[in-house]
Amino acid sequence: MDFDQDARRLATDLRDADTAVVLTGAGLSAASGIPTFRGDDGIWGDDFEESDFHVSRFERDPAGFWDDRIALYDRMEPDGGAEPNAAHRALATLTNSGILDAVITQNTDGLHHAAGTDEVIELHGTNARVVCPRCGSTTDGEPIRERARAGELPPRCECGGPYKPDVVLFGELLPRDAHRRAKELTAASDVFLVAGSSLRVDPAASLPARRRGGTLAVINLERTRYADSADYTFRTDVTELLPELADRLSGER
Ligand code: APR
Repeated sequence: MDFDQDARRLATDLRDADTAVVLTGAGLSAASGIPTFRGDDGIWGDDFEESDFHVSRFERDPAGFWDDRIALYDRMEPDGGAEPNAAHRALATLTNSGILDAVITQNTDGLHHAAGTDEVIELHGTNARVVCPRCGSTTDGEPIRERARAGELPPRCECGGPYKPDVVLFGELLPRDAHRRAKELTAASDVFLVAGSSLRVDPAASLPARRRGGTLAVINLERTRYADSADYTFRTDVTELLPELADRLSGER
C-alpha cells in the first residue's frame, strides 16, 4: 500500500462524495488516555468481563453492577478527565465543513461533542447521563456517580428505582432513532470510514455491510473483519491520518 497515494485518493473520494460518514470506536479516544476494550492493554479480560455489565446483571444485582461500574470508570477515566484529541478535532472539522454528514460513534465518552462536532449519532448512548428504567427520568451522570462512589449502591431515582448509566448494556437494543439514522446514512453513503474500532460488536460492526456500494475505508491499528473487502485499509494511528485528511480537505466545501 502506498500510504500517501491512498490518502490522496481517499481525500478525493471524500471531496467528491454526496454522502459520507465515519463510524468511530474506542481507538479514537486512546490518545485521550481512555483505554480501549480490546487489543493491547484492553479493558476486557484483565479486571473486567463483558458479563459484569450485561443488562441481566444490572437487573439481578444493581448494587454489585454499580460497584463494578465505578471501578470501571476509575480504570477508564484518566486523571483530570479526558480531553478531545487531534483525531476528534479532525472529525469535527470534516463534519462541520460538510465533508462528512455525521459521526456515528460507539463511544460513550462524549468527546466528539466536546470537540465541537455538530452531528453525532451515539449508537451506544452516553455516560454523561443516567436513566431510571422504572420511571424513565434522566439526569446528569456525574453527581450520580459521585453518590455511588460515596457508597449509595445502587444510586436511586426519586421514584425508588435504581439508576442505570444511559449506555447500551450488553443484551440491550440500540437506541431506535440513532440506529435508524445510522442505517439510513450508511445505505446512502458514497464513502464510509471506520476509525479506531475492532468491528467486533454487532450491530454496530455490521453497519459497513449495509452500504449500497460506495467506498469503504478502515483506519485501525489492528486488522478487522473487513480487511479483505475494504477499498482502503490503513493500519495507522487515527491521530495521524485523520488530521492529514482534514488538512487536505480544509476549504474544499
Ligand atoms: N489509531 C487507530 N486505531 C487504534 C488506535 C489508534 N491510535 N488505538 C487503538 N486502536 C484500535 C485497536 O487496534 C482496536 O482494534 O482501536 C480498536 C478498538 O477496538 P475495541 O477496543 O474493541 O473498541 P470498539 O471497537 O469501540 O468496541 C466496540 O465493544 O465493549 C463494547 O460497548 C463497547 O462500544 C464498545 C464496543
